[in-house]
Amino acid sequence: MKVSVAFVTLAAVLAAVSSLAQPPDRQMGPEMRMMRGPMRMMAPLEAEFESVTNPLTPEKIDLGKMLFFDPRLSIGQTISCNSCHPLDNYGVDGRRVSIGHGNQQGTRNAPSVYNAAAHFAQFWDGRAADVEEQAKGPMLNAVEMAMPSSDYAVSVLKSVPVYVAAFERAFPDESNPVTFENLARAIGAFERKLSTPARWDRFLTGDREAVTMQEIGGWMTFHHAGCTTCHNGSTIGGQSFQKLGVKLPWPGLSDKGRYEITKLSTDRMIFKVPSLRNVEKTAPYFHDGSIDTLAEAVRLMGRHQLGIELEDSDVQSITTWLHTLTGEIPEEFVRTPKLPALPKQVR
Ligand code: HEC
Ligand code: HEC
Repeated sequence: MKVSVAFVTLAAVLAAVSSLAQPPDRQMGPEMRMMRGPMRMMAPLEAEFESVTNPLTPEKIDLGKMLFFDPRLSIGQTISCNSCHPLDNYGVDGRRVSIGHGNQQGTRNAPSVYNAAAHFAQFWDGRAADVEEQAKGPMLNAVEMAMPSSDYAVSVLKSVPVYVAAFERAFPDESNPVTFENLARAIGAFERKLSTPARWDRFLTGDREAVTMQEIGGWMTFHHAGCTTCHNGSTIGGQSFQKLGVKLPWPGLSDKGRYEITKLSTDRMIFKVPSLRNVEKTAPYFHDGSIDTLAEAVRLMGRHQLGIELEDSDVQSITTWLHTLTGEIPEEFVRTPKLPALPKQVR
């Protein structure tokens, strides 16, 4: 089956735009009614990603930012969260798979930390529920930051008076605030601020000039091809687990995805649908970082997830729309914070 941009008529494009203003049903033409539903699958990005269990305070966020940038959370004191998720590069290291402690290679591509707090689960296989739980993983992972234990990480922090004071400010009601839990909470709070609203959000909130007709046409191609069944909502993904290779097996797949965690046969090749926010900037693609260009990623999705061969013009149309998802990175995230003075030697 082939999908073609010809499907995208001007009337439908106009309908897509008009659907945002949501006039009463009786004033709508048939195409407009047709488009109203689909546009509702999309939503503007939140300015920050709140949490009931980890309320955001400026003190916690500031502490989390320092910790995110601090290489002392790794055993070699050389690798920080920002090494693999550089905030001045859309939160990705641009490598196929990341390189951690002692130059060891991991097995998966580093997803962006921007907007990750909005996902329904963390990691390609969703093995952590939220960014707070996620943050504990890399510090203790032997090929990432390789800290020997959570106690060790805490002892490093306790040796830095500036950190002890910052934890006291961030967790004012606690008698012993420097804990591994709170370390993860502070980093999580900072990540909950990493939102990158884009032109697409301005469009969704009523600024019709924010995107071009070609770009709206690209969204329509994306929707008509069937991509929105998995990539929808404010993060255009990040809200469900799906099989990789629904219609056609994915070649050379060695990572079994969620199966590695649950050992349920139904979880083989099941991965979290990634967000497509800033996707233009986050190559290479897929959990193994095997694909270098966005056009190729889009073509493979058509073939393996939807069982269609997208025409070149469709691929182009979809990638044109994807560019509207490239957000602005606020200056405050890019600037490396002043880190506390070096600790006394911890042994
Ligand atoms: C050595 C490189 C490396 C370091 C250091 C690192 N990460 Fe990651 N990060 C990765 C990789 C690779 C993944 C994907 C792993 C997987 O899915 O199994 C990941 C996944 C994530 C995710 C999940 C995003 C999503 O869309 O599911 C978040 C959030 C994250 N890291 C935050 C952090 C934080 C916070 C730190 C510091 C405490 C950190 N990372 C340190 C490489 C790294
Ligand atoms: C059945 C669900 C499903 C459908 C339909 C689907 N995708 Fe995906 N998409 C996924 C999953 C799952 C992944 C992650 C696969 C992996 O790397 O393991 C993914 C990954 C991607 C990526 C790579 C993102 C990254 O950061 O690595 C892009 C780009 C993408 N999809 C675009 C599309 C487009 C365009 C369409 C329509 C032609 C589409 N997808 C249809 C489930 C789907």
